Amino acid sequence: MTLSTVMIRTLSIVVTLWFVLLHEQLGQAADREKLLSDPGVYATFAAFKFDPEWWEMDKAARGAAAAAVKDVVRKHGEQVAIDTYLLRGLSEYADMLIRIHGSDLSRNQNFLVDLMGTALGAHLINTSTFNGMTKKANYVPNFPDETKAALKTPAEPGAKPYAVVIPIRKDAAWWLLNQETRTRLMKEHTDAALPYLKTVKRKLYHSNGLDDFDFITYFETDNLADFNSLILALQQVKENQHNRRFGSPTLLGTIHSSDEILDLFTR
Ligand code: HEM
Repeated sequence: MTLSTVMIRTLSIVVTLWFVLLHEQLGQAADREKLLSDPGVYATFAAFKFDPEWWEMDKAARGAAAAAVKDVVRKHGEQVAIDTYLLRGLSEYADMLIRIHGSDLSRNQNFLVDLMGTALGAHLINTSTFNGMTKKANYVPNFPDETKAALKTPAEPGAKPYAVVIPIRKDAAWWLLNQETRTRLMKEHTDAALPYLKTVKRKLYHSNGLDDFDFITYFETDNLADFNSLILALQQVKENQHNRRFGSPTLLGTIHSSDEILDLFTR
């Protein structure tokens, strides 16, 4: 075999491998996008605190334990979309939050069971878990066209480093209201919230029957002052009278990749 034949063969192998890798990456990215935007997707939010023994382990042992978790995240990342948040320092009761989106709730469970089965997982105290699912909008289809158009206002570009999770339970009176009345009240809610669409990204999960509350509300922002004003504005609309539980707990953290968070807990 001549040198040029060897070079051509090597080049063709490299190009084929590059296409395979690119295809795999695109495939995963597409799934994640679907999981984060489709209705009928199941989400689990699990908050964890490290036990005191974790911090007494030497750095090498913590590093090896974290490496095993990175493998578990990579493996399950093909089935579910995993997002991770640092709560330590901003919450007295959890160090990190994991949000998982899966087409089936058992996929979220499989990931968490594998995570908890690692050497690192043995040191995790699961301080809270919320389950919910995404659904098509219930009220927006009956809103006036100008409100529907205003709801399409895109968020300002740029990183939104903070995430807030607030579970909500409505009172029985809310569920006894007819659809028309609830639509009118949710229109008021929306009008009060619209000025904050540019700085606050939101996602709603329905939890009735899947957990002890009715909704998990999730937000990303780079402007906590705006988020504070948004909550105050929503507390002035009538729909707020029907919130029987609001937060408790409210989870506030910063968004980081799982690798970043694991590195932080091993340093
Ligand atoms: C940018 C800010 C916000 C906007 C534009 C907004 C808008 C909306 C809209 C349009 C709906 C109706 C969805 C549907 O048709 O099913 C809705 C539902 C809801 N929002 Fe907001 N919202 C915002 C912030 C908040 C905040 C800060 C909370 C509470 C922490 C909240 C709690 C809820 C809840 C619990 C529902 C579900 C109500 C139900 O289906 O009975 N929202 N929101």
